Amino acid sequence: MALVSMLIAITSYLTSLLFVAAVPSFEGVTSWSSIGNLVPGMTYLEGLGPATTQGTPGHVPFYMSIAATRGNPGNVTMYRNRSPPLFYIHQNQLWHYHNESTIMPVNVHNTTGSGQLPLQLIVGTKPEGVPGGRWRWQGTMLFYENGPQNNEGLFYSCADVNGLNGMFLFLQW
Ligand SMILES: *[C@@H]1O[C@H](CO)[C@@H](O)[C@H](O)[C@H]1NC(C)=O
Ligand SMILES: *[C@@H]1O[C@H](CO)[C@@H](O)[C@H](O)[C@H]1NC(C)=O
Ligand SMILES: *[C@@H]1O[C@H](CO)[C@@H](O)[C@H](O)[C@H]1NC(C)=O
Repeated sequence: MALVSMLIAITSYLTSLLFVAAVPSFEGVTSWSSIGNLVPGMTYLEGLGPATTQGTPGHVPFYMSIAATRGNPGNVTMYRNRSPPLFYIHQNQLWHYHNESTIMPVNVHNTTGSGQLPLQLIVGTKPEGVPGGRWRWQGTMLFYENGPQNNEGLFYSCADVNGLNGMFLFLQW
Protein backbone atom coordinates (compact mmCIF):
# COMPACT_ATOMS: atom_id res chain seq x y z
CA MET A 1 0.00 0.00 0.00
CA ALA A 2 2.69 2.46 1.01
CA LEU A 3 4.83 1.41 -1.92
CA VAL A 4 1.96 1.79 -4.36
CA SER A 5 1.18 5.26 -3.11
CA MET A 6 4.82 6.19 -3.35
CA LEU A 7 4.99 4.99 -6.95
CA ILE A 8 1.90 6.98 -7.79
CA ALA A 9 3.51 9.95 -6.14
CA ILE A 10 6.69 9.53 -8.18
CA THR A 11 4.71 9.73 -11.40
CA SER A 12 3.47 13.12 -10.30
CA TYR A 13 7.00 14.24 -9.36
CA LEU A 14 7.81 14.60 -12.99
CA THR A 15 5.34 17.45 -13.38
CA SER A 16 6.49 19.22 -10.27
CA LEU A 17 10.24 19.16 -10.34
CA LEU A 18 11.92 22.20 -8.92
CA PHE A 19 15.28 23.81 -8.82
CA VAL A 20 15.85 25.51 -5.50
CA ALA A 21 17.71 28.79 -5.55
CA ALA A 22 19.00 31.09 -2.87
CA VAL A 23 17.21 34.41 -2.56
CA PRO A 24 19.29 37.03 -0.78
CA SER A 25 17.53 37.43 2.51
CA PHE A 26 18.12 41.18 2.76
CA GLU A 27 15.22 41.56 0.32
CA GLY A 28 12.77 40.60 3.03
CA VAL A 29 14.55 40.78 6.35
CA THR A 30 14.52 44.17 8.00
CA SER A 31 17.12 43.32 10.61
CA TRP A 32 19.55 42.03 8.00
CA SER A 33 22.62 43.54 9.64
CA SER A 34 22.12 41.74 12.94
CA ILE A 35 21.14 38.45 11.31
CA GLY A 36 23.89 38.76 8.72
CA ASN A 37 26.48 39.21 11.44
CA LEU A 38 25.20 36.16 13.23
CA VAL A 39 24.85 33.82 10.28
CA PRO A 40 26.43 34.85 6.98
CA GLY A 41 24.79 33.50 3.85
CA MET A 42 21.33 33.08 5.27
CA THR A 43 18.61 33.00 2.66
CA TYR A 44 15.11 32.04 1.66
CA LEU A 45 14.99 29.12 -0.77
CA GLU A 46 12.80 29.71 -3.78
CA GLY A 47 11.53 26.92 -6.00
CA LEU A 48 12.03 27.51 -9.71
CA GLY A 49 10.59 25.27 -12.39
CA PRO A 50 7.67 24.41 -14.61
CA ALA A 51 5.22 24.25 -11.71
CA THR A 52 5.94 27.83 -10.66
CA THR A 53 4.59 31.07 -12.04
CA GLN A 54 7.81 33.07 -12.16
CA GLY A 55 7.66 35.94 -14.60
CA THR A 56 3.88 36.24 -14.49
CA PRO A 57 2.15 39.31 -13.05
CA GLY A 58 1.24 39.02 -9.38
CA HIS A 59 3.62 36.11 -9.09
CA VAL A 60 3.97 34.75 -5.56
CA PRO A 61 7.02 32.48 -5.46
CA PHE A 62 7.15 28.98 -4.03
CA TYR A 63 9.47 28.75 -1.05
CA MET A 64 11.00 25.83 0.73
CA SER A 65 8.99 25.65 3.95
CA ILE A 66 8.37 23.37 6.91
CA ALA A 67 5.04 21.63 7.52
CA ALA A 68 4.86 22.55 11.21
CA THR A 69 4.15 25.54 13.39
CA ARG A 70 7.03 28.02 13.50
CA GLY A 71 10.14 26.86 15.31
CA ASN A 72 9.23 23.17 15.18
CA PRO A 73 10.65 20.24 13.23
CA GLY A 74 8.62 18.84 10.35
CA ASN A 75 8.61 17.64 6.79
CA VAL A 76 10.04 20.00 4.22
CA THR A 77 7.40 21.23 1.80
CA MET A 78 7.13 23.83 -0.92
CA TYR A 79 4.35 26.37 -1.20
CA ARG A 80 3.54 30.02 -1.89
CA ASN A 81 4.69 31.04 1.53
CA ARG A 82 4.39 34.79 2.17
CA SER A 83 6.60 34.46 5.22
CA PRO A 84 9.17 31.82 4.26
CA PRO A 85 11.71 30.35 6.66
CA LEU A 86 15.43 31.07 6.46
CA PHE A 87 18.21 28.60 5.71
CA TYR A 88 21.98 28.58 5.52
CA ILE A 89 24.78 26.08 4.97
CA HIS A 90 27.40 25.55 7.66
CA GLN A 91 30.04 22.81 7.45
CA ASN A 92 28.21 21.08 4.58
CA GLN A 93 24.97 20.89 6.55
CA LEU A 94 21.83 22.80 5.57
CA TRP A 95 20.25 24.47 8.60
CA HIS A 96 16.96 26.21 9.22
CA TYR A 97 17.33 29.37 11.29
CA HIS A 98 14.29 30.17 13.44
CA ASN A 99 15.90 32.35 16.11
CA GLU A 100 19.11 32.52 18.10
CA SER A 101 18.19 29.52 20.24
CA THR A 102 16.37 27.41 17.64
CA ILE A 103 18.45 26.32 14.67
CA MET A 104 17.55 22.94 13.16
CA PRO A 105 19.20 20.71 10.54
CA VAL A 106 17.53 19.80 7.26
CA ASN A 107 18.01 16.03 7.15
CA VAL A 108 17.79 13.61 4.25
CA HIS A 109 15.86 10.46 5.12
CA ASN A 110 15.56 7.16 3.33
CA THR A 111 11.83 7.07 4.11
CA THR A 112 10.99 4.60 1.35
CA GLY A 113 13.89 2.25 2.17
CA SER A 114 14.54 1.63 -1.51
CA GLY A 115 17.51 2.38 -3.71
CA GLN A 116 15.18 3.21 -6.63
CA LEU A 117 12.95 5.61 -4.74
CA PRO A 118 13.83 9.15 -3.70
CA LEU A 119 15.06 10.50 -0.39
CA GLN A 120 12.91 12.83 1.69
CA LEU A 121 13.88 16.16 3.29
CA ILE A 122 12.84 16.50 6.92
CA VAL A 123 13.78 19.20 9.41
CA GLY A 124 14.77 17.56 12.68
CA THR A 125 16.09 18.57 16.06
CA LYS A 126 19.49 16.97 15.42
CA PRO A 127 21.45 15.73 12.40
CA GLU A 128 20.17 12.25 11.47
CA GLY A 129 19.02 10.17 8.53
CA VAL A 130 21.25 9.23 5.60
CA PRO A 131 24.87 9.75 6.72
CA GLY A 132 27.66 11.41 4.78
CA GLY A 133 25.63 13.98 2.83
CA ARG A 134 26.96 17.40 1.90
CA TRP A 135 24.98 20.47 0.98
CA ARG A 136 26.54 23.16 -1.18
CA TRP A 137 25.75 26.08 -3.41
CA GLN A 138 26.50 25.86 -7.10
CA GLY A 139 26.06 29.47 -8.11
CA THR A 140 22.79 30.31 -6.40
CA MET A 141 21.46 26.76 -6.79
CA LEU A 142 21.23 24.34 -3.90
CA PHE A 143 22.88 20.95 -4.37
CA TYR A 144 22.96 17.83 -2.22
CA GLU A 145 25.69 15.25 -2.73
CA ASN A 146 26.59 11.98 -1.08
CA GLY A 147 29.84 10.30 -2.04
CA PRO A 148 30.14 10.32 -5.84
CA GLN A 149 26.41 10.96 -6.34
CA ASN A 150 24.44 14.19 -6.27
CA ASN A 151 20.94 15.42 -7.01
CA GLU A 152 22.00 17.71 -9.89
CA GLY A 153 20.23 20.54 -8.09
CA LEU A 154 16.82 18.97 -8.59
CA PHE A 155 14.14 18.56 -5.97
CA TYR A 156 10.72 17.06 -6.37
CA SER A 157 7.61 18.31 -4.65
CA CYS A 158 4.65 15.99 -4.48
CA ALA A 159 1.49 15.37 -2.52
CA ASP A 160 1.17 11.96 -0.90
CA VAL A 161 -2.13 10.13 -0.53
CA ASN A 162 -2.87 12.21 2.58
CA GLY A 163 -2.53 15.37 0.53
CA LEU A 164 0.62 16.36 2.36
CA ASN A 165 3.36 17.81 0.24
CA GLY A 166 6.83 16.37 0.65
CA MET A 167 10.19 17.36 -0.80
CA PHE A 168 12.30 14.60 -2.30
CA LEU A 169 15.54 14.19 -4.20
CA PHE A 170 17.20 11.47 -6.23
CA LEU A 171 20.92 10.77 -6.01
CA GLN A 172 22.40 10.36 -9.49
CA TRP A 173 25.78 9.32 -10.79
C1 LIG B 1 13.07 30.73 19.77
O1 LIG B 1 11.95 30.04 19.31
C2 LIG B 1 11.51 29.01 20.19
C3 LIG B 1 10.40 28.25 19.50
O2 LIG B 1 9.42 29.10 18.98
C4 LIG B 1 11.09 29.64 21.51
O3 LIG B 1 10.66 28.62 22.40
C5 LIG B 1 12.25 30.39 22.10
O4 LIG B 1 11.84 31.08 23.26
C6 LIG B 1 12.79 31.41 21.09
N1 LIG B 1 14.03 31.97 21.61
C7 LIG B 1 14.33 33.28 21.52
C8 LIG B 1 15.66 33.67 22.03
O5 LIG B 1 13.53 34.09 21.06
C1 LIG C 1 6.31 13.32 6.97
O1 LIG C 1 6.61 12.42 5.93
C2 LIG C 1 6.50 11.05 6.32
C3 LIG C 1 7.05 10.16 5.24
O2 LIG C 1 6.66 10.55 3.96
C4 LIG C 1 5.04 10.75 6.64
O3 LIG C 1 4.90 9.40 7.01
C5 LIG C 1 4.61 11.66 7.77
O4 LIG C 1 3.23 11.47 8.01
C6 LIG C 1 4.87 13.11 7.45
N1 LIG C 1 4.65 13.89 8.65
C7 LIG C 1 3.80 14.89 8.69
C8 LIG C 1 3.67 15.58 10.01
O5 LIG C 1 3.17 15.25 7.71
C1 LIG D 1 17.88 3.36 1.21
O1 LIG D 1 17.54 2.09 1.71
C2 LIG D 1 17.65 1.05 0.75
C3 LIG D 1 17.19 -0.25 1.42
O2 LIG D 1 17.87 -0.48 2.62
C4 LIG D 1 19.10 0.95 0.27
O3 LIG D 1 19.19 -0.03 -0.76
C5 LIG D 1 19.53 2.29 -0.30
O4 LIG D 1 20.90 2.24 -0.66
C6 LIG D 1 19.32 3.38 0.74
N1 LIG D 1 19.69 4.68 0.16
C7 LIG D 1 20.59 5.48 0.74
C8 LIG D 1 20.92 6.75 -0.01
O5 LIG D 1 21.12 5.24 1.80
